[in-house]
Amino acid sequence: MDAAVIAEGLRKRFGATQALDGFDLRVPYGTVCGLLGPNGAGKSTAVRILSSLLRPDGGRALVGGFDVVREPLRVRYRIGLTGQQPAVDEMLSGRANLEMFGRLYHLSKRQARVRADELLEQFGLTEAAGKPPKHYSGGMRRRLDLAVSFIMAPPVLFLDEPTTGMDPRHRMEVWNGVRQLVSQGTTALLTTHYLDEADQLADSVTVIDRGRAIAQGTPAQLKARLGGNQLDVAIGHQDDLPAAARILASIAGTEPEVRPEVLRLAVPAGDGVDALTATVPAFAAAGITIVDIGIRRPTLDEVFVGLTGQPAGQQAAA
Ligand SMILES: Nc1ncnc2c1ncn2[C@@H]1O[C@H](COP(=O)(O)OP(=O)(O)OP(=O)(O)O)[C@@H](O)[C@H]1O
Ligand SMILES: [Mg+2]
Repeated sequence: MDAAVIAEGLRKRFGATQALDGFDLRVPYGTVCGLLGPNGAGKSTAVRILSSLLRPDGGRALVGGFDVVREPLRVRYRIGLTGQQPAVDEMLSGRANLEMFGRLYHLSKRQARVRADELLEQFGLTEAAGKPPKHYSGGMRRRLDLAVSFIMAPPVLFLDEPTTGMDPRHRMEVWNGVRQLVSQGTTALLTTHYLDEADQLADSVTVIDRGRAIAQGTPAQLKARLGGNQLDVAIGHQDDLPAAARILASIAGTEPEVRPEVLRLAVPAGDGVDALTATVPAFAAAGITIVDIGIRRPTLDEVFVGLTGQPAGQQAAA
């Protein structure tokens, strides 16, 4: 068995809504898979089926080699889950929550206390440790939720929108926490609307739309599908725009896109930096001042628009 998570043709219907419509996924052991899709695409439904909380209508799913329908207890024993909805106790303090879950994972009292302190520190909750989550901000609750699923390094970790509502610094801490678990051998599946999150963290990305995987690959492969890199140049003087456009056209073999209001020109740059290294001396020889020059890769947002015709996070048309 080469993959920690396998879904084949998963189907799930809620009334008139076909939430999953033949969903396929493979996540190799020890890797991070980003499941990317707009609202209602079926991400949480897939995660709930894979973590054995919801029965599929059809298809098959294996986690750690075990069938989620036939062997749910074996599956549950091997996974950690941070769902989209919080799971912590509202009345217990943050520290007491972590210690309680540590004890549920069979840590000794002392081990549970030590691990709780480590996680409170890692997730910036040390000061709030004595307060119950009902007095936490949204981002703090989310961090406590994540800390709970990080108590043990589970073989397979499911994170449903782990960093929604978090500020940038805490998002980075969560990413570091995930990387740390993965370096210890955990396989992670995370759902996200944040394209940079998939880009930062995921070895592979599966794009889901209307209950089906519509694209799969590394972040770099998905970007490459959309036509590769652009060379972006900003010049110093308006008068030089026509000459700059002529030079770029001869280097790239195609007319550049010119934005005169910001003195910027862009051409397709293939997959290398040849266009960039040719442009600098050619502009210098023509006396054109370069203010800024760079190779720009398409963002995953642009990939998403290319694949689905709409930006990630936009409501899918019914
Ligand atoms: N328990 C349920 N009862 C009825 N419909 C449901 C239920 N759970 C999900 N759905 C519907 O199934 C579809 C997929 O929902 P799901 O929660 O899997 O989407 P998602 O990709 O996680 O979206 P989001 O990005 O908003 O979290 C949606 O149309 C949703 O309304
Ligand atoms: Mg969801």
